[in-house]
Amino acid sequence: MNEPEEFLLGLVVRLMIGECRCPTDVAMCLRGVCTTSGVGASPESRDDMFKMKKLLLVGVLCLAAAIGLSGCGGNQEAATSSSGGKVLKVGASVDFAPFEFQDEGQSEYQGFDMDLIRAIGKEMGYEVEISNIGFDGLIPALQAKNVDVLISGVTINDERKQNVDFSDPYYESGLTMVVREDEQNIKTFSDLKGKKIAVQIGTTSAKEAKKIEGAEVKELNTPADCFMELKNGGVDAVVNDRPVNDYYIHKSGQTGVKTLPERLTSEDYGIAVAKGNKELAEKINAALKKLKENGEYDKIFAKWFGEQKK
Ligand code: ARG
Repeated sequence: MNEPEEFLLGLVVRLMIGECRCPTDVAMCLRGVCTTSGVGASPESRDDMFKMKKLLLVGVLCLAAAIGLSGCGGNQEAATSSSGGKVLKVGASVDFAPFEFQDEGQSEYQGFDMDLIRAIGKEMGYEVEISNIGFDGLIPALQAKNVDVLISGVTINDERKQNVDFSDPYYESGLTMVVREDEQNIKTFSDLKGKKIAVQIGTTSAKEAKKIEGAEVKELNTPADCFMELKNGGVDAVVNDRPVNDYYIHKSGQTGVKTLPERLTSEDYGIAVAKGNKELAEKINAALKKLKENGEYDKIFAKWFGEQKK
């Protein structure tokens, strides 16, 4: 407990045990001036009792406010787990294979990001606790301090840098598109003018698609919803991150759709921390550097993307 909290708690206790009966001046009492002045006064008087109750109420309210404020006031210390270790609370939108996804019947989240953040946590001496949060809710969750970091294929860009800080880049990505296999008219991004496009809400794909002249952009919750919409004929194309499109087509053996080679953008993924939390960003960067040096990063990379180094 910090000093103001201790003082307020002390005040409330003193009010409760009747030691402090500051008869009139609330401000004086709050300054602790009246510690003994009330002793010997006549507490039986209804008026005094009423004032005491009022003071007690003021004290309780102040204490509640002080505790509430310190709760919201950016306690940077890591939470502690049941086993007593430090916990790194991670937010991820678990809908983005091969970076973060969950196989049916499996409880563990898996993917490149999941392995990487677990390795980073281990390196930092933290237990990693991952929460699944929809992509457009990730930055708000970080700002509300519900989580300590985000790893979710989050592209580093200037717009986001106004709200969060990023680690060093850890993966080079970019946007491509997926169309139906029998699609004849769409071969490049310039063919998307006036077309219907599905994107995941809150992503760089959404931002880029909205720049395309005359395009009708449908913002859906997950890439899987976008691919479904494409297959059902609701849209003409899906714009999404290249490695995720490639994984969807090749690894998950999808038929009836294809991905086109043109890259609309080149983007770097970073791990996001709360704006100004330099200490945590530095710790993450140091861990990332170590994992790159000791070969652990390459191992995780090869597990999800094959041997070729990006
Ligand atoms: N890289 C894109 C962005 O930052 C998409 C990321 C989507 N991530 C996810 N886990 N669904 O906007």
